[in-house]
Amino acid sequence: MVNSTTLKMDDTTVLSLKELAKQTLKNNDLGGYTVPTHGLYPFQWNWDSAITALGWMKFDEQRAWQEIDVLFSGQWDNGMVPHILFHKDSETYFPGPDVWGSNRTIKSTSISQPPVVATAIKKMLETATDKALATEKVKHLFAKLVDYHLWWYNDRDPENTGLVVTYHPWESGMDNSPAWDEALNVVPCVDWQYTRRDTSHVDSSQRPHKSEYDRFLFLVDFFKRSNFDSKYIFDNCPYKMNDIGIISILHCATKDLLIMGENLGLSDDRCDYLAQRVELTEKAISTLWCESSQFFYCRNVLTNTLSMVKTSAGLLSIYAGLTTTEQAASLNNTTKEWIEASQFSIASTHPSESCYEPQRYWRGPIWLHINWMIAVGLAESGYNDTADKIQQDTTELILKSGYYEYFNPETGTGCGGKDFSWTAAIALHWLLD
Ligand code: DGY
Repeated sequence: MVNSTTLKMDDTTVLSLKELAKQTLKNNDLGGYTVPTHGLYPFQWNWDSAITALGWMKFDEQRAWQEIDVLFSGQWDNGMVPHILFHKDSETYFPGPDVWGSNRTIKSTSISQPPVVATAIKKMLETATDKALATEKVKHLFAKLVDYHLWWYNDRDPENTGLVVTYHPWESGMDNSPAWDEALNVVPCVDWQYTRRDTSHVDSSQRPHKSEYDRFLFLVDFFKRSNFDSKYIFDNCPYKMNDIGIISILHCATKDLLIMGENLGLSDDRCDYLAQRVELTEKAISTLWCESSQFFYCRNVLTNTLSMVKTSAGLLSIYAGLTTTEQAASLNNTTKEWIEASQFSIASTHPSESCYEPQRYWRGPIWLHINWMIAVGLAESGYNDTADKIQQDTTELILKSGYYEYFNPETGTGCGGKDFSWTAAIALHWLLD
């Protein structure tokens, strides 16, 4: 095995990994949007696209901006950018548009996903070689981004608590993280039969259990039966989480949006309102912190209890700049110990947790874009050594296994979908430059 402390890639390796990454994006391009991987995920996913645009930016800026434009073509009138846009039909995925039942011109799901897109756009603007194109694109997208962020705060935190709620594990992007187990358990199961498609592409030992799918689908039905009525869903949804992952990603992205607006002279009253929401989150975030275990957790809003399992979502607080100096120091120590706990890092669930499973979707495996966010956050807080170590470990993974959807933290083996867009994109953006 490559020793991470001495890892060095020669130019040829970097070049061939870059070529492979570019080719992965090109192969996954369905004309304006990039599927995460063929078969398993044959549509446009929200946070996948935002991350994937960072990869396109390294070799085709026009195409990178197009990815974002196409994503926003599916924005709902209320500002929401859906988690999946079903641009074309596909038989390889379940549940498709008919199950979701939302009757829009561009068919979509009725939930969103971690709103990393404004952060990605800010990075695209900063790194663009064609500044005129980038500026024109951001000016065009700005109001849509503000609408999206206002939707998050108004729709998902109508009582101004400072902490938005999520209604579905799929909305978190961390689909079957153990942080949702208790809350999901009380959601009823659907009483109709269905055929999953995911397990025909990926071994079922790497995917959620049927008992989870039954509940995922109950929630999908619930949104449809509720006519997608925001107020009704807020008052009655049987699953409501304060997800520290989404809260952190939203917080970081809102700050990025406000900075872009100010720099481009685009700020308005709505931005002042967003700035107030940022302050509100900064005040409320301490309620997700556990002093005795020195960690940020998700909260089941319906029972008002913290979900006391250490997942990588808690480390995103540092990426959002939501930590005090003391909390950041503590999280840096936790991250160092987390890195040591498995051969490859960072496991999505801490390996010492009893619910840790190294190969099952979000219950242990490593995701590259999460590593990137955590490393960015640590570096911004001055913890460069830990950030460098994460970057080096992550590079080892692609050297060993290529561009899989996720990786086993004990063996570094690639799991889930093959030839995965955001893995290739993050490699281009962060590891191979
Ligand atoms: C799936 O179908 O597994 C997706 O992750 C939902 O977003």
